[in-house]
Formats: sequence, structure tokens, C-alpha cells
Amino acid sequence: MPQTVLVTAATGNVGPHALAQLLEAGVTARALVLKDDPNIGRVPEGVELFEGDLEDPDSLDAALEGVDAVFLMWPFFTTSVETAPAVVRKIEAAARRVVLVSSVGVHIGLERVDNNCHAYLEELLEDTALEWTFLRTTGFQANALGFAGQIRNGGTVHFPYGAATRTSVHEADVAAVAVASLTERGTAHAGQKYLVTGPLAESQEEQVRIIGEVIGRELEWRDIEHQAARDAMVGAGWPPSYADGALDYFRMLTTEAEVGSTVVEEVTGRPARTFREWALEHTAVFR
Ligand SMILES: NC(=O)c1ccc[n+]([C@@H]2O[C@H](COP(=O)([O-])OP(=O)(O)OC[C@H]3O[C@@H](n4cnc5c(N)ncnc54)[C@H](OP(=O)(O)O)[C@@H]3O)[C@@H](O)[C@H]2O)c1
Repeated sequence: MPQTVLVTAATGNVGPHALAQLLEAGVTARALVLKDDPNIGRVPEGVELFEGDLEDPDSLDAALEGVDAVFLMWPFFTTSVETAPAVVRKIEAAARRVVLVSSVGVHIGLERVDNNCHAYLEELLEDTALEWTFLRTTGFQANALGFAGQIRNGGTVHFPYGAATRTSVHEADVAAVAVASLTERGTAHAGQKYLVTGPLAESQEEQVRIIGEVIGRELEWRDIEHQAARDAMVGAGWPPSYADGALDYFRMLTTEAEVGSTVVEEVTGRPARTFREWALEHTAVFR
């Protein structure tokens, strides 16, 4: 079993779960954090902190010194961050194992090397001597945090494609599949491209209804038109190709449910968490 694992995007949605689970497994858990990271409080106690920036590969040297494995999450939209090849080379020089959070978009062929960081990173890692595992995840249940402001301020959620049916996955389950892949003896997880999803297919509108049920308020969904949603996303900094990809995918999911898998249960031995469980854990954010 690896003794020391480095986690990137450590203060994001998945990172804190992964760090806590690594500690529980008896592994030395390291978090890569930015200088003066305002979210440092999300890192569990007992984790080793290392300052480093994925846009500056040399800044990762101290964090990678002596690691056995890396849980790599790439917190950038596009392949325009030029440091990915150098970061991957540094991981290859330091570690034996790597787990990458990739995306369902790669699984279904929507995300390609020329248009998306997940496919690009998979290609870079496949070309190394590392024991790699890719977690091609559907949307995180935490994406519903994006509805929180509208739910607190009136209760009508304006968003595109309410009928889009998602198999959203709990961030703790993404972390659990990663921790199993990072820490279990043997090479069963090496070379695996796992499709990691939640247990149920629910429309976005249903997710909002479930949030309403757990906080005891009736909530309303109003679809935003495709073009207005695209303008808002690009205005908020999304690269146009990403906005188009996401919206075309949502539109597709109004007529066919998102793909699902039983990987969480197969790999971790426990059922994947439902969106209702996630909502019950986060009621305070929506009240
Ligand atoms: N959300 C989804 O539905 C979805 C679906 C499929 C795949 N994914 C993948 O899942 C991954 C994990 O997502 P997440 O939501 O947990 O995290 P995230 O939002 O992608 O990343 C946020 C984390 O990255 C850190 N960070 C930002 N810039 C950095 C830099 N230059 N160097 C080092 N760290 C930096 C942030 O630090 P601060 O605390 O300073 O902000 C924060 O800890 C994503 O990277 C994405 O590739 C997400």
C-alpha cells in the first residue's frame, strides 16, 4: 500500500473527502495548496500542507518528493494551460501510481484531445510508465450548489434544460473510488477507465424538487433559453467551446438519460450515495 499520496485541487469539492479518506486508510495524505489559499480550512486536520501551483511545475517539487501516488485533479477549463505535460513528467519521475478525475464526456466521445483538458490529460498519462486510473465521472451532485443563491432568494431556479436527466455523483464517492484505486495492493485498478456515476437518473428539475422536499419549501424551475444561457456562461468566463459542449449535452439529456454505472459499489463495496442523501447533508446552504 502506498505510504504517501499527494492530492491536487485539495480544497475543491472532491479533495477534502479524498484527504479525509486517505487519513482513515492510514496513509500519509498531502495537500497541494496555493499560496495564501483562502479555502485552506477545508483541508482536514492531520494532512501535510505543501504550497504549489499547477501553472508552475517547478513549484511542485517539494510536494512530490517521496510520494508513492498522486490524486490528480486539473482545475482548469482547457488545454490552454501549457504546463500539463511538464506536470505529468514530474509526477512520472516521483510516483508509481496516479488517479485522474476525468469526465463522462470522454467516455461518450464528446470531449476530445483537441477540445478538452480531460481527454488531453488522459493521453499524456497513457504515455507514461505510471500505473494510471481514470475516473470518468458524471456531473458532481455539488453542482447543485449553483442553485443555492436562487433558492435562498425566492425559490425559483432559472437554468437551462430542466428536463435533462443526470446520473450525478456524490463527491465523496468519487473520492472513495480514487482512494481505493490509489491504495489497494496489486494492479487491479491500473489501466482502468472507470465510468463513475451516481445510482439514479434524475432530471435537473427533479433535483430541485428534492432540495425543496428536504428543506420543506416548494421550489419552482424555469428554463432559460439556450442562447441566453450560452451568453451568460461565456460572460462568466467559460470558453465558448465549453459552453456549447455543456449546453448541447444538456439538450441531448432531455431525450435520453445520462449513462450510469455500478462502479462505485463494485470498487468501494458500498452503494453509491443518492442525490437526496447529498441534499440532506447540505440543507444549511439552501435555507
Ligand atoms: N464538477 C463536475 O461536475 C465535474 C465533472 C467531471 C469532472 N470534473 C473534474 O473534477 C475535478 C475536481 O473538481 P472540484 O470541484 O473538486 O475542484 P475544482 O473546482 O476543479 O478545483 C478547485 C481546486 O483547485 C485549486 N486550484 C485552482 N487553481 C490552482 C492552481 N493553479 N494550482 C493548484 N491548485 C489550484 C483550488 O484552490 P483554491 O482553494 O485557491 O480555489 C481548489 O482547491 C475538476 O478539476 C474537473 O476536472 C468535475
